[in-house]
Amino acid sequence: MFLPTSVTSCRLRPWTPADKPDLVRHANNRHVWRNLTDSFPHPYTEADADDWIAIACKPGRDLHLAVEFAGQVAGGIGAIAGHGLACQTCQFGYWLGEAHWGRGLATAAVQAFVRHVEARRLFARLEARVFEWNPASMRVLEKAGFVREGLMRQSVTKDGQLIDSVMYACIVARTA
Ligand SMILES: CC(C)(COP(=O)(O)OP(=O)(O)OC[C@H]1O[C@@H](n2cnc3c(N)ncnc32)[C@H](O)[C@@H]1OP(=O)(O)O)[C@@H](O)C(=O)NCCC(=O)NCCS
Repeated sequence: MFLPTSVTSCRLRPWTPADKPDLVRHANNRHVWRNLTDSFPHPYTEADADDWIAIACKPGRDLHLAVEFAGQVAGGIGAIAGHGLACQTCQFGYWLGEAHWGRGLATAAVQAFVRHVEARRLFARLEARVFEWNPASMRVLEKAGFVREGLMRQSVTKDGQLIDSVMYACIVARTA
């Protein structure tokens, strides 16, 4: 599966074991870790990369893809499926290596991912929770059509600080 984005040379595709060196190089960065949940390790080791690639390749409703730029992994994007009442909702997230920031790659990747979810009718709702200190990610989501639904006050403890987070969501075509 290769999903083209609007940025030339950028694709979303499944992770493979050969991605390990690029994954460790980009993921082992405090500036990346600081904006993600604590399931994203820091420091990010080769063993963490092995674990991640195994998880990402498991069949199931979760969908985890590599963001490839110019033939190399630049980051990751994915959705964790909800259960029960939230079975049509997914927790959506993404990150890029710092070397790739600021050229529209995340926006293109998010747009391509949403198009894929919509085309395959995978979920009705994608939710993304953004930390208060991350306006770039809020902008990415807004450019990709997500709606800011609300401020969740003092909802996150990250990097030793208790902070607000902002709930963004995108409603896509309903599944049967
Ligand atoms: C957030 C992240 C994905 C953005 O990636 P990116 O490829 O640089 O994003 P894009 O270039 O597509 O868009 C960034 C937008 O934010 C804007 N932006 C950047 N810094 C900003 C700031 N401090 N305040 C406001 N807007 C800002 C840019 O100007 C751009 O908007 P524009 O196109 O209207 O000018 C990337 O920085 C990253 O991976 N960060 C670490 C992990 C992370 O935050 N993941 C998301 C968790 S919710």
